[in-house]
Amino acid sequence: MALQVRALDNVGVEVSGFDITKPIDAALAAELVSLWNEHGILVFRGQDVNPHNQIAFSRVFGELEMHPLAATTSAEYPELFTLVNKPETEKYMTASYNGREIVSKLDWHMDLHYTGKPNRGALLRAVVCASEDGLTGFGDLAKAYDALDEATRELLANIEVTYAFSMQRRHMRFVNLEGYEPGPYSPKKPSDLNFPSFPEVAYPAVVTHPVTGRKVLEICEQFLERIVAPHRAGLCNDEAVDLLQRLVEHTRKPEFHYFHQWQEGDMVLWDNWRAMHCTTGTKPGVERMIHRTTIMGDATLGRVVD
Ligand SMILES: [Fe+2]
Repeated sequence: MALQVRALDNVGVEVSGFDITKPIDAALAAELVSLWNEHGILVFRGQDVNPHNQIAFSRVFGELEMHPLAATTSAEYPELFTLVNKPETEKYMTASYNGREIVSKLDWHMDLHYTGKPNRGALLRAVVCASEDGLTGFGDLAKAYDALDEATRELLANIEVTYAFSMQRRHMRFVNLEGYEPGPYSPKKPSDLNFPSFPEVAYPAVVTHPVTGRKVLEICEQFLERIVAPHRAGLCNDEAVDLLQRLVEHTRKPEFHYFHQWQEGDMVLWDNWRAMHCTTGTKPGVERMIHRTTIMGDATLGRVVD
């Protein structure tokens, strides 16, 4: 069976020409995995998805793992993580942006980045689509690396950057805080949500992808903290902060982004070792449910800072 592949806006591809309700043979599986490695972000539309076939399809791309923060993992399908917006709990995820209340907005990040061992990938399926807004953005950090000038690439070759897990967005140093006010019910520390307190982790500023060998700019705004010992790369602290700010602005360029507007039957698969993602959030009162499966990573890309 030949798959059809169509380029999305800027990065990633839409893949069609197969049916998720039918068995996926070895040749088709190999083709899908190869497209995933080549493009990093795959969109599938109009599939007849249920929890059972979502899990089976995700296994084409590797062993699945349970999310360590799985507060809402399904009892029947432990591989499924449910992301849900509902009126009863949305106040905990609500904040104000330039005077507008938004639920579940998330800055650019890579999942489990703060552990040093990010999962290899994940697949999202919209079970209940937001009636408006609620987009998921994906950013290709391999393309972001390719677009850097030679001098910046040379500088980054000797630099490590750190990420510090934090519950309060206003403690994050490189997110855009203009017009931001936390909501009255926003969590203040990890234990408020029964999360552990993760130590700071360091990554090379450029990570070589363990499977594809591509260079990935390991910069995403959420939890980004500092450059380790910048003087070793000939930078004073002010230059180090300016460099991180410049790199974050680079990753925000639309040419590296694809924003998915969810429709029933859609699935998006991404390579979490290469692509960052974000959510635009919704207005209060908008119901939304996403089922997510997580593909295990077998490589440790970062290190805990002692
Ligand atoms: Fe995420």
